Amino acid sequence: MSTPTIDEANPHSAALDAAESGKVELITVTLRIRRFNPEEHPDAVWVDYQLTVDPKERVLDAINRVKWEQDGTLTYRRSCAHGVCGSDAMRINGKNRLACKTLIKDVNPEKPITIEAIKGMTVLKDLVVDMDPFFQAYRDVMPFLITKGNAPTRERIQSEEDVQRFEDTTKCILCAACTSSCPVFWNDGQYFGPAAIVNAHRFIFDSRDEGAEQRLEILNDREGVWRCRTTFNCTDACPRGIEVTKAIQEVKRALITRRY
Ligand code: SF4
Ligand code: F3S
Ligand code: FES
Repeated sequence: MSTPTIDEANPHSAALDAAESGKVELITVTLRIRRFNPEEHPDAVWVDYQLTVDPKERVLDAINRVKWEQDGTLTYRRSCAHGVCGSDAMRINGKNRLACKTLIKDVNPEKPITIEAIKGMTVLKDLVVDMDPFFQAYRDVMPFLITKGNAPTRERIQSEEDVQRFEDTTKCILCAACTSSCPVFWNDGQYFGPAAIVNAHRFIFDSRDEGAEQRLEILNDREGVWRCRTTFNCTDACPRGIEVTKAIQEVKRALITRRY
């Protein structure tokens, strides 16, 4: 099978074909994108791009078309285009979302659709932020199974109830939509942030793990779990529907009771 060219991969071709066959009604939208290139100008500027789209296309499709058809210098992260890799979190009309999971028809396309980088992290260029501190906080909570003693001779058995205690937090795709929507994180970039706590939760409540005490001590830090003010922005922002605030509350409770 031959590798598809950009034109073949371009979803607009499919949209136009469908429109020509009378199956969809195309609309004209304006993407208002906050552009920033520190090599050219110290300040960010809003730039409008107009294009014709199928309202059932995703915002990522429209951004791709701006890059492919209007301005190849537009810089952003994306990979899977299916809500799995977590690389295209951005602020769309002021709300954190994955561009690949957001339909144009759902973001009020009658008005300019604003698109900007997620907040609280250093913008490197256009929609690309420095994710290093985010991933450092993730590494700091030791997001891996810790066991002691010899390896067992058979698999570690868990009951349905055991799995339910941490199953929700296994769904995290590390998109940073939660952490970058948290007002505490905006004001203090040292806060571990909800994503790191979610990934600590995933192991603290896993009955096979023996590193819960270490992780709880890390989150007992002044920049740890007690900084959370229960504002729920993180839960609202999570594209995986994880109950982020509830997970944070469970970690707080475990710190008080030392039961997990
Ligand atoms: Fe993204 Fe949700 Fe994981 Fe936060 S908890 S990083 S919003 S998937
Ligand atoms: Fe921030 Fe979520 Fe707590 S938005 S304050 S981590 S509930
Ligand atoms: Fe992978 Fe959107 S591009 S989650």
